Amino acid sequence: MNFKQNSEDTLRVIIVGHVDHGKSTLIGKLLSDLNQIQEEKINDIKKICKTRGLKFEWAFLLDALKTERDQGITIDTTQIFFRSDRRNYVFIDAPGHKEFLKNMITGATSAQLAILIIDGLEGIQEQTKRHVFLLSLLGIKDVIVVINKMDLINYDKNKFADLEAQISKYLKSINIKITAIIPISAWNGDNIVRKKTLRWYKGKVLLEVLDQFKDNAVDHGMPLRFVVQDIYKISEKRILVGRVESGKLKKKSKYVISPSNTKVSIKSFEIWPKSTKNEYVTGECIGLELNEKIFVEKGNVLSEITRSPSLTNTFEARIFWFSNQRLRINKKYKIKINTTDYEIIFSKIKKIINIDDLTEKKNDDVEKNNVADVLIDSESILCIDNFELVNNTGKFSVIDQFEVVGGGVVKSASKSELIDSHIRINENVKSEDFFVNEIDRVLKVGHRPGILWLTGLSGSGKSTIAKEVEKKLFLKGYNIFSLDGDNLRQGLNRDLDFMPESRVENIRRTAEVASLFVSAGFIVLISLISPYKVDRNKARAIRPEVFKEIFIKASIEECEKRDVKGLYAKARSGRIKNFTGITAPYEEPNKPELIIDTEKNGILECSKMLEKFVEKEFGKK
Ligand code: ADX
Repeated sequence: MNFKQNSEDTLRVIIVGHVDHGKSTLIGKLLSDLNQIQEEKINDIKKICKTRGLKFEWAFLLDALKTERDQGITIDTTQIFFRSDRRNYVFIDAPGHKEFLKNMITGATSAQLAILIIDGLEGIQEQTKRHVFLLSLLGIKDVIVVINKMDLINYDKNKFADLEAQISKYLKSINIKITAIIPISAWNGDNIVRKKTLRWYKGKVLLEVLDQFKDNAVDHGMPLRFVVQDIYKISEKRILVGRVESGKLKKKSKYVISPSNTKVSIKSFEIWPKSTKNEYVTGECIGLELNEKIFVEKGNVLSEITRSPSLTNTFEARIFWFSNQRLRINKKYKIKINTTDYEIIFSKIKKIINIDDLTEKKNDDVEKNNVADVLIDSESILCIDNFELVNNTGKFSVIDQFEVVGGGVVKSASKSELIDSHIRINENVKSEDFFVNEIDRVLKVGHRPGILWLTGLSGSGKSTIAKEVEKKLFLKGYNIFSLDGDNLRQGLNRDLDFMPESRVENIRRTAEVASLFVSAGFIVLISLISPYKVDRNKARAIRPEVFKEIFIKASIEECEKRDVKGLYAKARSGRIKNFTGITAPYEEPNKPELIIDTEKNGILECSKMLEKFVEKEFGKK
């Protein structure tokens, strides 16, 4: 009955509880009742204990099995592999000490189920609540509760019922599903693999519950995330080595690499010994070669084209703080996500949650053992997911110098959604109606007004096309006007830089100006990178009836080659920060009204396309 490597039916279980509530005993007894530990080994340790005048502890045995270290406390996040008749198990033994909570954060995240062990004598402790809250923070939704040391409370049914009620209430309050609550005596082996003394307990024993547990979250339909951990160059081959963090990686499919947004396909899987598999699933590590010769870095993510991760340099997260030093706003920290370190700052503390009673406080002091909702800004683009969607690419640790000071999960990965209209209209301001309205103006000029929103990378050709079309249509008698990102940034938007918040504001203002021009009867050509989908959608929402999104398409490689303004070179050498396509994201439109590919067509052709489109949509009849 050995653990079978690479078996898909493996259940990862984290076992948590207060120090001394009996974790090691439970694991030891489970393993020995499953005949996974040889009788001699147990006897050896018993003998050693006797000669040293110590009481036999299963923890000693587990430690002896792990390393030959001689210690009475399990001090590191430990994985224990074993097998029942039904399936493989990986038990993650998270140490109980507060100091070790950080190990738990990293150890627990890949678990599908938790066992919470509570000492029947001591009951629910402050730390029990913290553990459980952390589990919920880490996305573990199912918990088996075992009430241990029933032998020490005379197998008392009422005491058990009391604890059962208390812990059920708490778990429900934080949305954790209780798979079972089982009274046990780990020491005597009661209700672990078999029933013994506890006659009044009619439920299943621990092993049955574990064996019958079905993990609903197992990758059915989860999006693919293959995170690149390293790149090896072997003769002419460039092999990307990484792990499937979610979903399935298939040889035949088309994928996209983030953040460069390059479409790729797999040439071969590179694994030793050679494998004929055409598909790899969550948790598997693999090397692969791409058909395309493109620049890929550690931390890049391979995903399906239609379900790629969020690309952002600002996001909201829920963090757990371990450090004795308070969290400092705007100080530089690093986060480790997708095996890579990124420089970040915490730009805002939204709220702090007290784990003991789950109350919230509003001040900015995040202290040791606090959970806080925060906004994070990063220097470079991150490929991340909301933790709820994909756990593995939505969790991170926070590092200060070389110390891990916190852990966290991504709550909302798109900055633009966060900056929801924080500027509210003053209720004392009312709008004024004028006598000349839009219809009068349309009748006068003889065409409809409209917004042509040209979005695309810097250097894709937005302004060039807009200039041509403006000239042509002006000569044909249209009321037409160009609003250009670079020009607006010399005046109206002079106060804005290229941080995500500023771009949001840049787009908002420009969209409002465009709306005024529409009211004045104009066709407006907007040339703005406008990298975030959500902002373009907001712009559309201001005048949806006349808004047309035009994607000026050119690959990043092509734009960089053109580099008309020399900005790409500056961005590459670090002289410009947050440069779209290099160190800041660009989200392509899903369904633009028109795509103009400037890589495939010349300027005249492209301009003609837009000119025709404008005349068809808004033109003189
Ligand atoms: S947007 O992202 O906020 O829509 P906008 O279109 O106004 O950008 O301005 C983009 C222009 O500013 C580019 O064409 C380029 O000339 C210049 N620029 C300077 N710094 C940057 C930067 N960091 N990222 C993108 N464009 C930049």
